[in-house]
Amino acid sequence: MTAMTTTPPRKKPEDLRSHRWYGVKDMRAFGHRSRTSQMGFHRSDYAGKPVIAIINTWSDINPCHSHFKQRVEEIKRGIWQAGGFPVEMPAISLSEPFQKPTTMLYRNLLAMECEELLRSYPADGCVLMGGCDKTTPALVMGAISMDLPAIFMPAGPMLRGDYKGAFLGSGSDTWKYWAELRAGNITEEDWQDVEDGIARSPGHCMTMGTASTMTSATEVLGLTLPGAASIPAPDSRHAQMATLTGKRIVDMVWEDLKPSDILTAASFDNAVTAVLGLGGSTNAIVHLIAMARRAGVALDLKRFDALARRTPVLANLRPGGKYLMEDFFYAGGLRAFLAQLGDLIDFGQKTCNGRTLGANVEGAKVFNEDVIRPRGNALLENGGLAVLSGNLAPLGAVIKPAAMEPHLRKHAGPAVVFKDYNDMAARIDSPGLAVTKDSVIVLQSAGPQGGPGMPEWGQLPIPQKLLKEGVRDMLRISDARMSGTSYGACVLHVTPESHVGGPLALVRDGDIIELDVDARSIDMRVSEAEIARRRAAWQQPQPKFTRGYGVLYLKHVQQADTGCDFDFLETGKPQAGEGGEPEIH
Ligand code: FES
Repeated sequence: MTAMTTTPPRKKPEDLRSHRWYGVKDMRAFGHRSRTSQMGFHRSDYAGKPVIAIINTWSDINPCHSHFKQRVEEIKRGIWQAGGFPVEMPAISLSEPFQKPTTMLYRNLLAMECEELLRSYPADGCVLMGGCDKTTPALVMGAISMDLPAIFMPAGPMLRGDYKGAFLGSGSDTWKYWAELRAGNITEEDWQDVEDGIARSPGHCMTMGTASTMTSATEVLGLTLPGAASIPAPDSRHAQMATLTGKRIVDMVWEDLKPSDILTAASFDNAVTAVLGLGGSTNAIVHLIAMARRAGVALDLKRFDALARRTPVLANLRPGGKYLMEDFFYAGGLRAFLAQLGDLIDFGQKTCNGRTLGANVEGAKVFNEDVIRPRGNALLENGGLAVLSGNLAPLGAVIKPAAMEPHLRKHAGPAVVFKDYNDMAARIDSPGLAVTKDSVIVLQSAGPQGGPGMPEWGQLPIPQKLLKEGVRDMLRISDARMSGTSYGACVLHVTPESHVGGPLALVRDGDIIELDVDARSIDMRVSEAEIARRRAAWQQPQPKFTRGYGVLYLKHVQQADTGCDFDFLETGKPQAGEGGEPEIH
């Protein structure tokens, strides 16, 4: 890891955006300076220096970012040392374990907040502090739209969980032991031990869930210092990385190195390839598409499927594999992993330290070939994700073949339909439910508008009576997302969603649903005429919000195949007079 660059400075102090707040001779600038003095800073602390906004998603309610109070001081230290002026700006935290109905409802709100903080204040560049699931794409989306020099400081994974001498993985082992508890195989005391040991340090989930997937993807895109995303949060090297991140952003401002100089179609292909090779979360599909569209790159579901067909899964990480992020770091981390992908990666892409991705991974070595597999011994030859389509999902759906029982790759069975989450919760464990291991569980009203927020309900529960028979996987379908730490034969992101009248809304109990992963198809065996008859009788459910942010969300959120961004945010930049180059009044 290095914070140094050989690129000569290009900007002069009077070229800085903050100069118009601090440097000009008018009454407004007097106010900005006198109010900065009020906070105890002398003019020499900031005059002629890049102002670095540190967007900090710390909160008392976000355990994944509980070390950010300390890390922000380390970032500030780096900024001061490099001759910048740090300004910490708190932003909404999006705490995955606590926020209802789902943090995804607020991803675009944080993206807007990030963009508006940068737009409306005298920021010359920014450090983005995130890691817990949606915080990463949200901050990056906002920073892409604002297009000031930006660097991401990933929260880092927490330490492995511990339970009776065995490792526990975030999420994955929760689902696993919950199923064992429901099946009567472990006691309430055992369950309490799992609760006490599964999350035992600061940091985000340490499986290859959404957090690890998105911070890794962000590093591959070139928006973090090399190696940053793999460092466990409590490791002293994480604190060092924070300081180096602070140092580097100051140089990036002088070099005017912006997201638009770094992000290309090839860098997004690299990120998708890395996600696939990591066996990463299906959530990355929605987020990377949204991020790419902000950057003007036309990434779509077809590209994911094409890259999935050629990319082996090399990272032996849960939920699809055996190990955890701490093991991945000790095995060489993301740099060593990227080196293993070899010619599947375009190493010529530029990164935020001014060097290419190839220069950043030079010399990286794998120290444990069971954790980071060589291509000759891949966990899976290809197909970490698959994009499906058919009369049930005309605009696409996704499945994670790496995390399902292989016998379900080609399956047909009768639907058992739940009209929404509450219906499912009320009836799924009912002894009278007509369900067998061959049934297909269908959940409606769980998409971007229907959930709302496309909650992570997609790993639909297996009915208790089947669990007791030993069933641990069955075909499940919804327009929801699935936690990156989940597993199972779950068809997700069905688009268009049922709430807006997608075919999923028209499925009835007993309809035969047919999945063929190899053919990439998902269909219901119902005649066109019958589908048309049901569509004519269908009535849209009431909107889930009648006031507040929810109304804005429902009016503007787009479908999963285009990343669920707001229609008014996904393209364009802040315009003159709106803040890109604001007039200051
Ligand atoms: Fe924060 Fe999983 S709960 S990353």
